[in-house]
Amino acid sequence: MRHEIELKRVLSAWDLFFMGIGAIIGTGIFVLTGIAAANQAGPAVVVSFIVAGLAAGFAAFAYAELAGMLGGSGSAYGYAKTAFGDMVGWLIGWVLILEYGVAVAAVSTGWSGYFNNGLQAIGLGLPVELIAPPASGGWINLPASLIILTLMGLLLVGAKEGARLNAVMVFVKLLSIAVFLIVGVGFVNLDNWSPFAPFGWFGEGADGKPVGILAAASLVFFAYVGFDAVSTATEEAKDPQRDVPKGLLWALAACSIIYIAVASVLTGMVSFTELNVPSPVAHALQLVGLNWASALVATGAIAGLTTVMLVLYYGLTRIIYAMSRDGHLPLTLSLVSERYQTPSVAIVISGVLIALMAGFMPLSSLAELVNAGTLSAFVLVCLAVVVLRRSQPDRHRPFIIPGGVTIPLLGIVFCGGLMAFLPAETWWRFGMWVLLGAFIFAVYARKLKAE
Ligand code: ALA
Repeated sequence: MRHEIELKRVLSAWDLFFMGIGAIIGTGIFVLTGIAAANQAGPAVVVSFIVAGLAAGFAAFAYAELAGMLGGSGSAYGYAKTAFGDMVGWLIGWVLILEYGVAVAAVSTGWSGYFNNGLQAIGLGLPVELIAPPASGGWINLPASLIILTLMGLLLVGAKEGARLNAVMVFVKLLSIAVFLIVGVGFVNLDNWSPFAPFGWFGEGADGKPVGILAAASLVFFAYVGFDAVSTATEEAKDPQRDVPKGLLWALAACSIIYIAVASVLTGMVSFTELNVPSPVAHALQLVGLNWASALVATGAIAGLTTVMLVLYYGLTRIIYAMSRDGHLPLTLSLVSERYQTPSVAIVISGVLIALMAGFMPLSSLAELVNAGTLSAFVLVCLAVVVLRRSQPDRHRPFIIPGGVTIPLLGIVFCGGLMAFLPAETWWRFGMWVLLGAFIFAVYARKLKAE
């Protein structure tokens, strides 16, 4: 194993666009739409998607400007390092590890829900003990852990195989969404949209957790997580300064339109009270008697969720690799397997940890934790644009956000605002992670520097 890795510049704007779609469309739309509609927003979850999409969109512009200007495969980690120095850069890298790692675990639990549905359909459904973590009345979410370990094997043998598989599965995912929209729209009953916003804009639920359109927005924001993974592939893009901003913004725009359409049709087809299930899109089709379409959508969801895990897991290893190469994480983590040219130590260690999380933690807690991390990274990326416009005004910017600093400032307000609607326990968990990061930075990274 060795430390240098030759990254080939092979990715075009289209590749980056499909990589974005691969990373973005997943649990957020296939699973969380139902949970958010049933428990927090009702049919107004459509508005939640618009609010969350605006927050992600403003941040995406900031990513596009910085990706063109700064490049580098470390994504927000690298941008924050340039704008705010080593300490903030390290903390953002640390938060990104949480974002990507926990997101992969969260998506695997959504995958497990659809997978078990498929098994049930052929009479082989697993007992609750094996598909739910202890907090949800089971022992372990076994399919969730096993899919992570399978992807770990795939990533170990090479990124190329992963990219090919990604393209096929993105196609299946988009096809299944198209089928859902085409057949589902005929079953929309306007009565299901009334009351439209039963929980209002914000309030407190029976269990003390926040409810309403804004709380739902802070949960379904998860659906947009992942467009930033495109910026982790900068070193492999053919013309990064032009293509990364394009790929990233197009992918996000396409996904936003798809989300608003799916959420509208889903809540129009069945009462939102029916949607608190692990596979709401397939479930709604079953409820209106379209079993064939339900099976097709479930297959598309399984493929789609797999691509999300694959791209985010890939992004995670890229960030760990970049941090380790900079001496901000143990150097062992940037060791590359000579045979397969993949960062195998980073892949195995992160894979085992994610598989454990996936087996033992419930989906919504995981998703909210990801959102806390992502939203704070987005706030800092928007802030980095503002700071760098002042500190490095003459640096070449292939893509400049129009309208001065208005859009980055709106990004700070929207992303910061959504953070306020996350449950208190998420804040605790996130705070502990950041504190642990600050502690490690103080003790370890400084020691490394001194050496
Ligand atoms: N945006 C990704 C998803 O919805 C993380 O699954």
